[in-house]
Formats: sequence, C-alpha cells, structure tokens
Amino acid sequence: MKPVALILDDDAQHAAALAGVVTNHGFSVAHFEDLAAAAAHPQDERVSVAFITLHCGEDSGLDLLDHPALEEANEIILMNTLDEPELVNRGIAAGATYFFRKPFDPAFIDSLLTDLAAEELAAHSEPELDHPIDQFGLLRGGSPPMRKLFRTMRKVAGSDTSVLLIGESGTGKELVAQSLHMFSERAGGEFVAMNCAAVPKELFESELFGHEKGAFSGAIRRHLGYFERADGGTLFLDEITEMPIELQAKLLRVLELGQFRRVGGETDQHSDARIIAATNRDPEEAIAEGELREDLYFRIARFPLRIPPLRDRGSDIRGLTAYFLNELNVRNGTAIGISEEALEEIEGYSWPGNVRELRSLLEQAYILANEQIEPGHLKGLKDDAGVAGDYIRVPATATVEEAEKKLILAALETHGGDKQAAADSLGVSLKTLYNRLNDYAEDEGDAADR
Ligand SMILES: Nc1ncnc2c1ncn2[C@@H]1O[C@H](COP(=O)(O)OP(=O)(O)OP(=O)(O)O)[C@@H](O)[C@H]1O
Ligand SMILES: [Mg+2]
Repeated sequence: MKPVALILDDDAQHAAALAGVVTNHGFSVAHFEDLAAAAAHPQDERVSVAFITLHCGEDSGLDLLDHPALEEANEIILMNTLDEPELVNRGIAAGATYFFRKPFDPAFIDSLLTDLAAEELAAHSEPELDHPIDQFGLLRGGSPPMRKLFRTMRKVAGSDTSVLLIGESGTGKELVAQSLHMFSERAGGEFVAMNCAAVPKELFESELFGHEKGAFSGAIRRHLGYFERADGGTLFLDEITEMPIELQAKLLRVLELGQFRRVGGETDQHSDARIIAATNRDPEEAIAEGELREDLYFRIARFPLRIPPLRDRGSDIRGLTAYFLNELNVRNGTAIGISEEALEEIEGYSWPGNVRELRSLLEQAYILANEQIEPGHLKGLKDDAGVAGDYIRVPATATVEEAEKKLILAALETHGGDKQAAADSLGVSLKTLYNRLNDYAEDEGDAADR
C-alpha cells in the first residue's frame, strides 16, 4: 500500500501543484479543502506526511494536529501566507515539524519527500529483531520518532539558529547537543557545556560572561566565561530554566547585540557562539511559573526540538538494550546474553529515567548475571505505581548530615539518576540537590588528597 500524504489547503491551484509533486514520489494523496472534511479522514489510515494550511477559510489547521491518523506521521508541515510565529510555535509544540511560507519551494519539498519515501520503504522491509541499531551522530535509534528527530537535526545542524531541546531527564539531550555541534560548520570550534543548575547564583554572571582581575574579592586573575570560551563554537546551556531570571534578561540582550562585558570590565567583548539550550521542563509551564522569560524563550526556541521519551521509541528499547549489553561484553571480554523474558519486562516498563535509567539498570543486571540476564537480575525495575521497594538503613548514632547523604544518594538511585525526579521526591529544589552532590564530590576529593 502506498504511504498517504494528506493535504489541507483551500487554495485549489496550490494544492494541485503540491499534489503533483507528492504523487511523483509514490505517495497517494488525500486532499481536503476544509477542516471538517479532513477530520473525517479514517482514523486508522495512517498519514505519512501532512501539509496543513494554518488558515483554511474560517478554520484553523492547528485543530487537525490531534487527528489519530497523524499520530505516527513522519512529517507534519505547516503552511501559511503570513508570518505568525506564535501560531507556528503552537503548531510545533503540538508535533508539527516544519513551517513554510506559501507558495512551497519545490526543491525543498522534493528533497524532503525523497528522504521520506526511502524511509517508508525501509520501515516496511526491515526485520524487527536482531537488527543492529542505527546511529545518527552520537545517538542510537531507528524508531519512527527518532528518525523524525534525526531528520530535523540534520536540517537544523547546518544553520546558525539557536535551538531549544525539550525532553525528559535521561533522554539524551546532551548527546543531541553534541551531535548538532558535530554536524555543524562549527565542528572545528569548541563545544562548551554549562549546567545552569550547578552554578551558584552569585557566581552566575561571572561564569557566563567572565570577570576581570579584581572585579570582586577573590577575583585574583582574569577569568574567561563560558560565552567567550565558546567563541566560534557551540555553547550548550543545560537546564536553562535554572538560570536566574535577571540573568536571562541579560543573556537575551547579549544574544541580540552580539556583545557583552566581563564582570568588572569596561570594554565590550564579542563572541560568536551558537546557543543550544535544554530543559526537561515543559517550557510553557516554566514561563507561567516565572522560571523562564518568555522573550528569551522566543529568542532561543526558533527551533524547539522535542526528544521523545524512551517509552515512545518502540523497538529501540530492544536495540539499545542489545547495544549497551554488547558494550559491556566487549569492554569486559564476556559473552553475557539476555533472555526473552527479561527483554519483555524491559519493554513493558515505562522508563521514567529514560535511556540513562536503562543503561544503569543493564550495568547492574550484567554484574548480577552469570551467563544470561534473567528477569530476577533486573533489580532496578521499579513497579510502575511509582513505589520503589528500596529502603535505607541509618544507624541511630548517625548525624543528620550522614542520614541526609544516604537518603539523597538512595533517592537518586531509585530514580535511575534522574536528578529532577529525585529532587521532587525528596521535596527539595534541583539546585539544593546539586549543591549537596557538589559537597559530597568535594568531600571525596578531600579524602583522596589525604
Ligand atoms: N540515543 C542514545 N543512544 C545511545 N546512548 C544514549 C542515547 N540517549 C541517551 N544515551 C545515554 O544515556 C545517558 C543520558 O544521556 P544525556 O546525558 O544526554 O541525557 P539528558 O537528556 O541530558 O539527561 P538530563 O536531563 O538528566 O541531563 C548517557 O549515558 C548517554 O550516553
Ligand atoms: Mg543533560
């Protein structure tokens, strides 16, 4: 059966031209002139690619985005004769992958459809199992949502626009950022990562923009900030919603002017750094709660890239399992396998800590298993009611500090290393959690020095 291309367009001439191109690539066309007609498209007739006019008569094309037939679409393209960024952003947040101004650019549509047609073919001829997992940049994956991500990454990497990565903890945001850098023309420059949650508030400005000698007590020499170090390369601003709100305003100005000052500095500095920001929060919610400035959001989210959670990646769960297990076997010169029953348990789990959780669970199971990983070795699998079966024991002679450390480390483990989830269950802020972890790391450093 031919893959389906849906077109919602009330401009008959434009629609006919588009339908011509689409048909040439082997798609069958379902063309509708109004929303009601398009909404009546059979729910179980999967649409591979959709072209949706934002204003179709009185109707808003955005209302079509939740149609069940579009759920597994490879590409959803919004079209408009006007420039309405807010509308486009809403569409992109709801799953659209591209936007273009009418009339369409035949060359662009042509290259897009060539990729898509090849992919549809591959998806239908590919055996489900025992297939080595595909790789794109540093990322492993071949499921439809990951391919969609790879395709968008390929298109975005080459441009200099800033990108906002949105995804749950452990989904691979940092790997996506590094891969975008690798595929960009800045690959020869530095990739500099700043974790906004790990920087103490009072040091933020000097960490980001640097400081001059003597700018404050303790500033014994000039210090280059992340911004300057990323000159000619990429600056990855991880957990952007943890950046103090005043600094977000400052960052926005710097991005707009392309220049900044070091703390205590008298002259303007320039840095040509491409910004990739990341968050595991829902940006709209973070804006509503005053943790993300809306104007900064619009500046950095010209390309919001959503990284799908592991539970939505279908056969990638098996693929990643095989990949991580193989990595362990190669590293240790072993040949430990995994039973079908264990694989099924892994597949059935919801993975709140995503790929990171899968990886650390397999490392544990690998140690416990003798020849083959069985369900009993999957100790870290919490039951999906969210209740962990783990307890900690604290001697009654322990200090509060010692007890706290045990609890914090146990919470982290329970949540598969997902710091946000651990902080939430502990009832502390992410920043507090980071501060404690930094303290523990320092204590260990001290102990090692002794
Ligand atoms: N697609 C993937 N292929 C291979 N390894 C992956 C993939 N995605 C994530 N990983 C691995 O999972 C771990 C978590 O990835 P990463 O640190 O990029 O996630 P993150 O989204 O930045 O998480 P957080 O929000 O907690 O910072 C890393 O060990 C990374 O190498
Ligand atoms: Mg990260």
